[in-house]
Amino acid sequence: MNGGRLIAFEGLDGSGKSTQLERLAARLRAAGCDVVSTREPTEFPSGQRIREMARSGKELDLEEELRWFVEDRRVHVAEVIAPALRAGRIVLTDRYYLSTVAYQGARGLDYEKILADSEAEFPIPDLVVLLEIDPQQAFERVHARGAEIEGVFERRELLSRVASVFDTLDCSYLERVPGGGGPSEIEAIIAERVRERLGLG
Ligand code: ADP
Ligand code: TYD
Repeated sequence: MNGGRLIAFEGLDGSGKSTQLERLAARLRAAGCDVVSTREPTEFPSGQRIREMARSGKELDLEEELRWFVEDRRVHVAEVIAPALRAGRIVLTDRYYLSTVAYQGARGLDYEKILADSEAEFPIPDLVVLLEIDPQQAFERVHARGAEIEGVFERRELLSRVASVFDTLDCSYLERVPGGGGPSEIEAIIAERVRERLGLG
């Protein structure tokens, strides 16, 4: 789409996605790139209702949960991602469709179908940075930042299953980055991959 690029950050809660997204955004901006940073669930009503549901601790029917994430992504793509790509901008998103593949797959849905449907409907990212981290370490980071309420999306067992789905993925646009080290070390690895794969930065 007109020179625009789409880079998604994926990984477990606490894997360091938002930290690394901000660092990459700063680097790319310093190199003169026009960067849009965004995230899912979105700030639109479709994303807010997902957060409210997670906070309430209520469990949705799995198919219904899937529909909510997909609807939120439709809004995200239509309102934010597609216009930015058309304008030739570089979009960095904290979570995208591989989160649905891994999380709703871990909850029991057919992750291969979610992947195929997502690739058919949504812009395929130029790069997905998957921050790989031991689920226990990710869990501890989330709790160290004072998240007290353990919502339905942040349970420990779920995170292990999510990690297993991430482990099985084999997409050409997926770059696995070790997420257990220090932030600057991880930042340098990501910057190198972005340079190699996309020629940016
Ligand atoms: P995510 O967006 O994947 O949930 P965050 O970037 O919000 O992860 O990081 C979760 C917590 O871990 C935050 O408190 C953050 O400051 C901390 N953190 C992020 N990256 C690292 C790292 N490489 N080492 C140690 N702590 C980190
Ligand atoms: P998260 O990135 O933690 O958002 P925030 O920091 O704003 O609360 O995302 C919320 C949770 O939603 C997280 O546990 C992952 C989950 N999730 C899915 O289950 N499926 C999806 O498609 C997406 C985008 C997120």
